Amino acid sequence: MAWTTTRLLPYLLFAAFVLKVQGLGQPTCVVFQPSDSSFPVVSNGNSAPILLSSDDWPGVHRTASDFAADIERVTGVMPQLVNITSSDQVPNSSKPIIVGTLGRSSLIDQVVNATKLNVSSIEGLWEAFLTTEVSNPLPGVESAFVVIGSNKRGTIFGMYDLSEQFGVSPWYWWADVPTTKHDELFLTPSGCSHGPPTVQYRGIFLNDEQPTLQNWAMEKFTNGTGSFYFNSPFNHLFYGKLFELLLRMKGNYIWPAMWGSAFAIDDTQNQPLADYYGVVMGTSHQEPIMRSTPNEFNKFSTGPWNYHTNKDNIYKYWVEGAERAKPYESVFTIGMRGAGDLPLEQQGQNIAFLEGIMADQKQLLTDVFNGTNISTIPQVWVLYTEVEGYYIGGLRVDDYVTLLWPDDNWGNVHRYPTLDERTRSGGAGVYYHVDFVGPPRNYKWITSSQIPKIYEQMSLAVDRNATRVWVLNVGDLKPYERETEFFLTLGWNSSRWNPDNVHSFVTSWAQREFNIDSTSAESITEIVGNLTRFNARRKPELLNSTTYSLVNYREAESVIDAWDKLVDASTAFYNKLPSETQPSFFQLVHHPVLASSNFGKLYIYAGMNNLRASQARLSANALGDQVEELFEKDFDLETQYHTMLDGKWDHMMDQTHLGYVYFQQPMTNVMPQITKVQKRKEALAGVMRISPEGSFGAWPGDNKFQCSDGYNCPPPSMSLDAFDPIQDRYVDVGAGGPTPFDFTVSANVTWLKISDTSGSISLDNTEKRIFVSVADWSKLKTGPNAALIKFTAKDSVVQLTFTAINTRSTLPSTFKGFVEGGGLISIEAAHTARNTSVDGLLWHNLPGIGRTVSGITPWPRGGSEVNFTAGTGPWVEYDLYNFNPTNMTVVTFISPSLNANGPDRPLAFAMQLDDKAIQSSYYMPFGDPGAEPAGWDGPDGFVANSIVTANLTWSGVSAGKHTLKLFMIEPAVIVQKIVIDTGGMKSSYLGPPESMLV
Ligand SMILES: *[C@@H]1O[C@H](CO)[C@@H](O)[C@H](O)[C@H]1NC(C)=O
Repeated sequence: MAWTTTRLLPYLLFAAFVLKVQGLGQPTCVVFQPSDSSFPVVSNGNSAPILLSSDDWPGVHRTASDFAADIERVTGVMPQLVNITSSDQVPNSSKPIIVGTLGRSSLIDQVVNATKLNVSSIEGLWEAFLTTEVSNPLPGVESAFVVIGSNKRGTIFGMYDLSEQFGVSPWYWWADVPTTKHDELFLTPSGCSHGPPTVQYRGIFLNDEQPTLQNWAMEKFTNGTGSFYFNSPFNHLFYGKLFELLLRMKGNYIWPAMWGSAFAIDDTQNQPLADYYGVVMGTSHQEPIMRSTPNEFNKFSTGPWNYHTNKDNIYKYWVEGAERAKPYESVFTIGMRGAGDLPLEQQGQNIAFLEGIMADQKQLLTDVFNGTNISTIPQVWVLYTEVEGYYIGGLRVDDYVTLLWPDDNWGNVHRYPTLDERTRSGGAGVYYHVDFVGPPRNYKWITSSQIPKIYEQMSLAVDRNATRVWVLNVGDLKPYERETEFFLTLGWNSSRWNPDNVHSFVTSWAQREFNIDSTSAESITEIVGNLTRFNARRKPELLNSTTYSLVNYREAESVIDAWDKLVDASTAFYNKLPSETQPSFFQLVHHPVLASSNFGKLYIYAGMNNLRASQARLSANALGDQVEELFEKDFDLETQYHTMLDGKWDHMMDQTHLGYVYFQQPMTNVMPQITKVQKRKEALAGVMRISPEGSFGAWPGDNKFQCSDGYNCPPPSMSLDAFDPIQDRYVDVGAGGPTPFDFTVSANVTWLKISDTSGSISLDNTEKRIFVSVADWSKLKTGPNAALIKFTAKDSVVQLTFTAINTRSTLPSTFKGFVEGGGLISIEAAHTARNTSVDGLLWHNLPGIGRTVSGITPWPRGGSEVNFTAGTGPWVEYDLYNFNPTNMTVVTFISPSLNANGPDRPLAFAMQLDDKAIQSSYYMPFGDPGAEPAGWDGPDGFVANSIVTANLTWSGVSAGKHTLKLFMIEPAVIVQKIVIDTGGMKSSYLGPPESMLV
């Protein structure tokens, strides 16, 4: 069944609902004003006591003291914490808060018994909690508010959930988020509750922690000397802070820092501390059986990391790891990679070999956990690079082991479980990155991942049942605070989020962190959306001075303009905030905005400087000076971060980021190349330089870009047609040396509008930009209209041919759609004319995703089994108009998702122009098992560009109205932009700006 709707994609699938502020994405049960029924936490300067039972988990007692401290942070009143063993200890004349774990706390069991409270909604479940007011829970207690967890972390999360709603951000210490004060605090009697999380183990991986996190931690958590064996600063003081943060965000799992450290060795308190807090420890993909490898191996074992030649020592090494971890809650990484996080050495026979290794690991776990059913010991096998190849080659592990699918390190998940993989008892999970060291280039300086993209990839993991384990590589943790919390929040309750409300995560986050109203928070959402969009278009580390076109579509200028607007918006906000909120805003929003824009502009100015020098323009020099200024400012911003709050975050911005020449970080920041012209020397061709938009050339004189010979070239020319989205052209009149001059601009026609007909150029004013446009298209004849524009200075005259192509009168007034301009039709994919569903699937907009506006994708995605043959799937239509018979090449800009639907299901879509033959595009190649596909790598590969393009061509297309249809073939294809090249498309990074829509 098909039904049709008109114009922009409809938002039919989801009801928008408004978030409460205090708990990100969670319903609230906290109020600051009393009502008749509300339960007082703090009222009239008194706090309800918090009752626990001494037999509850130590981690619950620890969290209860955080909980009490949080109440004091908000109200200034510290509640009493009391262990209750018999009813006569209950502080009388009070309505207490009673906290405990079902089946563990004798107090809670007593309360449940006495009140007959129905706890079936959480009983026996993983990390669930309920909170509510109860009557007569204990002898002599009329009423109490209970916080009951289904297990240890259920109770911990129950308390932290309330703390967040009271106004204590999980980041109160890690990002200096101030706590809003209230004299009084109340709870609604029905309380808050939460069932088991979507994802069982939700965690982070501190990785590539040098220089930033390590230098900072060394200063803050040691006396200048790190651990005995590895000189690591990551001791229990550091991890205590981290565990608390993780639990406040309702995460539960950590792969610890490992490049120069060994969690269990650096500080023998680390491992028991994690367990005490309630954090489950693991180790990364290349560190089997809970040991930091290779550090611990090199220090404490003998022989090479080679299971062929040194099996006994390695086996023993792993046994020690298992025994050491046995008392604590852990998820064991199994499998093996070669030394240096590289493939095992023995190519060819690896499948059987690795199978043998994993059989040994099973044996040693069975021995160490003697008496425990091995299938109940959580284990993950990370299918990272060549290991994925082994899996695809047929290597299997026991059903109870979780298969952890990685992304490509660039936010594109390699594989989701196929239908038959979704029933494994160990399930599956995803290892994802917001920070990375490796090809095509490191990215570990600043936030550059878009939350809508993380949502798109990770919600698909939910759809495909990859929900047992999620791990996010967070690098140094800062500056990825928001993305980290989103990842964990999505894993906590994925059903809460959909493409249409995912932006509200940032809005409620901004309200929580900066204590602002929802309208202000919306503007922060926009700032953050733009910041991460601009940085995700191309990671800063991959930018160079010609990434954005310096001559076409005013691309470089638009990018600068957008950065400037972003800085203005963020600065205005920063200046309005109270001083106690400014440090957190600086860390979370303002510094990344300032530093990223400074960085982005620095490279563009360097490109402009180089171009202008090649055009013999004196203005090159000032641009070069600007580059030098921005280069210095880059360090000023770093210093500002490091010195704020008396140096609390010293070193946190140590990461070098300027001057990459290969994948690895530069050893210091290096300014991009700038050039200078001699300012006292006159250019050979005279005082005046004429540089028209769209050309690398400059007149008079020779320049290799003026014509193919590079000398004796004709005068410059430019053209403009009536539906070009940019309705004017510019010509830069500049100094070719030290001599000041006056110039005039004149034309031989009256229909041209010239922004200035004269000007003066001098050493203080080296350039003037003249805009030329058509004053009134209706005065022009249909087709080309030529004009001569004359630039005259004292010793120099340049004539420019300007052609205005009038297509206005050709376009039927009845046409509605996109109109050809500049030799192309460019359309943002979301701007459809019609959208037709098939079998309940519809192309749906994903706001905020992608490089320019958004992306559209077939929705719902469901299982990967849903697909269509070309021309039968749900489709969208675009109406377009072209003025000349032509061949049309349709360039489709698609998010660089990988073939993650399974080995026999390559990503694909189909297109049809009018009723011409339907064409399919299988644009994403398969890589060799475990490897990235062709076109992925390199500084201009599709992950670097953050886009894949697919071309389909229809030849012999008549002039006039046409309809282009885009059909679904496979799910999880995200189309961002469609450009129909009718012969005029020029090079640019983002593609031409959107055409005129009439
Ligand atoms: C309650 O008992 C636990 C377990 O013995 C202990 O760790 C905690 O400090 C006690 N709390 C108070 C407030 O006495």
